[in-house]
Amino acid sequence: MTADSKARLAILISGRGSNMVALADAIDDGRIPNAEIALVISDQPAAVGLTRAKERGVETMVIERGGRSREAHDREMVAELIARQVDLVCLAGYMRILSNEFLTSYRGRILNIHPSLLPSFPGLEAQKQALDNRAKLAGCTVHFVDETLDGGPIIAQREVPVLEDDTVESLSARILEQEHQLYPEAVAAVLRDAQFRIAARS
Ligand code: GRF
Repeated sequence: MTADSKARLAILISGRGSNMVALADAIDDGRIPNAEIALVISDQPAAVGLTRAKERGVETMVIERGGRSREAHDREMVAELIARQVDLVCLAGYMRILSNEFLTSYRGRILNIHPSLLPSFPGLEAQKQALDNRAKLAGCTVHFVDETLDGGPIIAQREVPVLEDDTVESLSARILEQEHQLYPEAVAAVLRDAQFRIAARS
């Protein structure tokens, strides 16, 4: 990645892929300038997001765990990312933990979006955790991925209120709407950052 070339993104998904679509839309309309999606990888062959990526003409790939070790699975993914000179990896509903090897290969260049105001409610069913804990505020967080579970440095957050009659579905929908705005903003901010550009080049 040089000053005048486009940043090459890979997006890892396991399901619906609505955040992947939000990132693709933001690249298309210039909210994430000078970027392109090099590859969308899913570990799930039936992920709806794969169809949505293909419809947009984005290269997709299914890389299943397939009984292998986490390291062997990740090694195949990293090889594909490196072959396509990927600068930044965006996890978007990717439901697997990354190996240390993956983290080392893309240190400081892996982002995730999580549907809570971290450090509150890491892990699965974050929206249900917020309701179970009678939180008054919920939201979403974009953060760098490190060895901790949803614990890497925070890049950006957006709050939403939790309403009296919220269900997991209604709260999740309110948060998701914010996710679709926040993730593109955070990716654009990371790509603007000079330190990131140096890391991507080295
Ligand atoms: C989002 O809520 C995201 O925060 C979480 O998984 C969900 C993925 O949704 N990590 P989608 O596949 O992007 O629609």
